[in-house]
Amino acid sequence: MTQQEGKAPVSRNRDNKCSGPFKLSDQPPHYLSAVEYNDIPEMVRVLNLNKEIYNGTASFQYPYLESHALTRLENIYIRDNQSGYTNCWAMRASPKGPLIGWIHTYFLPEDSGTRVHPESGRELKVGVIGYWVSPEHTGKGHGARAARFVVQEYLFKERGCDIVRAEAYTHNVPSRKVLEAVGMECEVEEWTTFIPKLQKDMVICCYAIHRDEATKSVVTDKTKDP
Ligand SMILES: CC(C)(COP(=O)(O)OP(=O)(O)OC[C@H]1O[C@@H](n2cnc3c(N)ncnc32)[C@H](O)[C@@H]1OP(=O)(O)O)[C@@H](O)C(=O)NCCC(=O)NCCS
Repeated sequence: MTQQEGKAPVSRNRDNKCSGPFKLSDQPPHYLSAVEYNDIPEMVRVLNLNKEIYNGTASFQYPYLESHALTRLENIYIRDNQSGYTNCWAMRASPKGPLIGWIHTYFLPEDSGTRVHPESGRELKVGVIGYWVSPEHTGKGHGARAARFVVQEYLFKERGCDIVRAEAYTHNVPSRKVLEAVGMECEVEEWTTFIPKLQKDMVICCYAIHRDEATKSVVTDKTKDP
């Protein structure tokens, strides 16, 4: 569902849990808080600085238009309002400052029984993260710090995930380093997949971190997992 002409955009429920601001670091100052509609102009500016974020991600467009951001935020708020949790945060250098990066999470849909706990047989909860940092702010630990916080404090502790996964283009060294800094391990080195925005196949790698050892045998299986 997206904004229909003439209709007010879906608003973010201010009561959604885990909206922040969360202070991740003093030096450099680094905060996470829910992305707001008034972040859109900065988001559009940052995403059009160069093609780094476009080249590193599967779904952010270039040029990046206000309409792209509006549709994205609306879809996020619809999902967040249903779950009662914020699942997408802006990285900021002060609690209410401009957006300097982005991190989002979602959960894999339940499957037909392949992702079950090896001991108890219960369905596993698998979270996924994606992120980018403005090219004006890379190389200061923001990517790794935000990913670590979202994996450990949000997905594991708050949402009870068993496994957190992430994918990167195999050649995307900075992103792979972020995932490794978070303690993720590469479970699939090379998988060729079609990227709609590029209209071509790309080689990706799949990382995961398990909350406890017992699920380590449940590795990413791209023949079954979305
Ligand atoms: C990937 C990205 C988020 C990294 O953000 P960042 O804030 O610069 O990351 P950090 O500062 O936390 O650095 C994490 C690691 O990557 C390394 N790194 C950062 N930029 C790098 C670069 N251009 N080349 C090589 N290594 C790099 C850092 O040295 C650090 O490594 P270390 O753990 O060995 O010290 C950022 O480059 C980005 O937004 N890229 C474009 C979008 C993208 O690829 N998103 C990920 C989609 S899967």
